[in-house]
Amino acid sequence: MRQSLSGLGAYPLVRPRRLRVDEATRTLVRENSLSVTDLVYPVFIIEGTGKREAIKTMPGIERLSLDQVLKDAERWVDLGLSALNLYPCIDLALKRSDGRESYNPDGLQQRAIRALKENFPQLKLLSDVALDPFTTHGHDGVIDEKGRVLNDESLEILAKQALSHAEAGVDMVAPSDMMDGRTRTLRLALEESGFTDVGIVAYSAKYASKYYGPFRDAIGSSSSLGKKDKRTYQMDPANIEEALREAALDVAEGADIIMVKPGMPYLDVVRRIKDELNVPVFAWQVSGEYAMHMAAIQAGYLPEDTILEALLAFKRAGASAIHTYFAVKVAEMLKHQ
Ligand code: PBG
Repeated sequence: MRQSLSGLGAYPLVRPRRLRVDEATRTLVRENSLSVTDLVYPVFIIEGTGKREAIKTMPGIERLSLDQVLKDAERWVDLGLSALNLYPCIDLALKRSDGRESYNPDGLQQRAIRALKENFPQLKLLSDVALDPFTTHGHDGVIDEKGRVLNDESLEILAKQALSHAEAGVDMVAPSDMMDGRTRTLRLALEESGFTDVGIVAYSAKYASKYYGPFRDAIGSSSSLGKKDKRTYQMDPANIEEALREAALDVAEGADIIMVKPGMPYLDVVRRIKDELNVPVFAWQVSGEYAMHMAAIQAGYLPEDTILEALLAFKRAGASAIHTYFAVKVAEMLKHQ
């Protein structure tokens, strides 16, 4: 039973400030904490060697060639980061309307998984499963002549993509495409090929959000997508009951972890899924959220440690882990606290 609010009117018997008198007391009663092991760092990968490209709309974040990823990963591991999610930026010449480069066993994403696993076996690797980096039209699935995104045809290609990641050694595949039935399709494909321990992080509640803009610049899908939007598969920002249905479906189809995306504007969704389904929930502080915080910090409108407060809000809402572009910065900040 929840304690009644009998404290109201009980002053001076009850003084909540007694538990705030000093840092030691505050620490003893603290309900949530942020740790470096709560963070998943998204990494943008490009072809080539010795390459580091700045991303205009995401100050401080770069696209890295694989050798640079391997070099930087030493520092990420030293800082205590334990998980990465990999995003390939594919040369325009390799994009097709069916996104077939997505399951090339020697594609950029597959090579990155192999090289990272070989050099950093302890690092958990998640891989994005969706076709948008690989399609000429920028959609997450394949389309028909009228431009409609085809569900079942897309599933076949997504399953091939997920299998190619599993063969390369990925720990968990993370389908972000929002096609119906993709969790079941991927789970069955993985089971049939003996990848029983490869997990699925299902983006169950992925909203059709304006906050993805900088990411689409980063992977080069915004020019392919043009003025089109993803509202026939990503969710309407107005809905939460639908997010619960999507998450319940994904759990029934074999998802190990449920993802909510974007993050801070959707923490109510994280909490509801956590409370009602009792499964691990990950959340994504997406590119637009990163850009907003960076812009305010660079302008001097907010102090840098506002980032810690923002990420703590995810923990309070019930997220087990948080995808954030601030992961490296936060790992450094937490080390020096
Ligand atoms: C699409 C995908 C998107 C992000 C990750 N995977 C955006 C989109 O739907 O275009 C967004 C991540 C971010 O904004 O940081 N497969």
